[in-house]
Amino acid sequence: MAGHHTIIIIGLVLFLSLDSTLSVIPEEEKYPSFWNNKGKQALHKALDLKPNVRRAKNIILFLGDGMGIATVTASRVLKGQLKGGNGEEYILAMDTFPHLALSKTYNVDQQMPDSAGTGTAYQCGVKANYGTLGLSASAQRKNCSSSFGNEVKSVLHRAKMEGRSVGIVSTARVQHASPAASYSHSADRNWYADSDMTSADLKAGCRDIAYQLVHNTDINVILGGGRKYMFPNTTHDPEYPSNKGSRSDNVDLTAVWLRDRENAKYVWNKDQFDAVNPEKTDYLMGLFEPGDCRYELDRNHKMDPSLTEMVEKAIRILRRNPKGFYLFVEDEYCCYDTGGIGFPKR
Ligand SMILES: *[C@@H]1O[C@H](CO)[C@@H](O)[C@H](O)[C@H]1NC(C)=O
Ligand SMILES: *[C@@H]1O[C@H](CO)[C@@H](O)[C@H](O)[C@H]1NC(C)=O
Repeated sequence: MAGHHTIIIIGLVLFLSLDSTLSVIPEEEKYPSFWNNKGKQALHKALDLKPNVRRAKNIILFLGDGMGIATVTASRVLKGQLKGGNGEEYILAMDTFPHLALSKTYNVDQQMPDSAGTGTAYQCGVKANYGTLGLSASAQRKNCSSSFGNEVKSVLHRAKMEGRSVGIVSTARVQHASPAASYSHSADRNWYADSDMTSADLKAGCRDIAYQLVHNTDINVILGGGRKYMFPNTTHDPEYPSNKGSRSDNVDLTAVWLRDRENAKYVWNKDQFDAVNPEKTDYLMGLFEPGDCRYELDRNHKMDPSLTEMVEKAIRILRRNPKGFYLFVEDEYCCYDTGGIGFPKR
């Protein structure tokens, strides 16, 4: 929640400080002809729009988690004001997309949904229950045995089955609900590592999300946060040595992932990330924080790549597949969890 508020606060500060200098209304906006012309242009653009019937080779799905209409409006105003305007008139790149739609985001069992149920809906095509990942609504949250036989397959999985390269990039933990809905089937979104589960659930055969990340769909590019769920609880974090991994099964999942793949690299800081040659790498896992990555304003530029840099590297690796690729990209706006290292000072 901290970052969501940060964005809005910045918007408000700008309103206040720029208010006296910015109350100049552009002259042309006073005349009906200005708005009538804008209306005509919009109509012509809509009428000229031809359906694109070609088959897409590559798909990139961008998801702003927590990015509701109010957040988009705040971003538009801020960007426009930083460019010297009043703000509202600014046009974001996504405002120019030819097709726009709104969706109903409820979960089957709850009006106010969560990222697990909604991630399942938009990635697997099936509305689901609150807090469950990659499962139909026949499964109940936290009920391990109810998950068996109710798994639903994601677009990422289907793309891989058709021979495409696939990737996930997130500024949250890569085991967080939105990305996890593309590769895991879990009765609870909070089953990040085995230590988050009961021994009864483990005995019944349910697996934690980090385990599923390396054992389910073969994913070519995995970039984001979430280091701690991959390492034994005796392994010190390389960046924050007083922190340790959270696995009780004594398994290093990054080693398992590397062992089972060729031309694969695991990196955890920006220097290592920058050194990866995308032309010679078929698999890349980069985990830059124990929990979620920091917000862009708080990012350590020496240690962690930006979302833009992660997406660019991912595309360079994935696009080498002649059959095409599927990439899921999440920018986390809502729920920040550093994974035990505390919140950065401002
Ligand atoms: C868990 O799910 C199983 C299988 O659907 C069901 O038989 C069982 O009653 C459920 N347990 C609880 C506590 O609801
Ligand atoms: C670490 O994992 C072991 C099992 O491998 C377990 O016995 C122990 O309680 C765990 N330690 C912590 C601090 O969770």
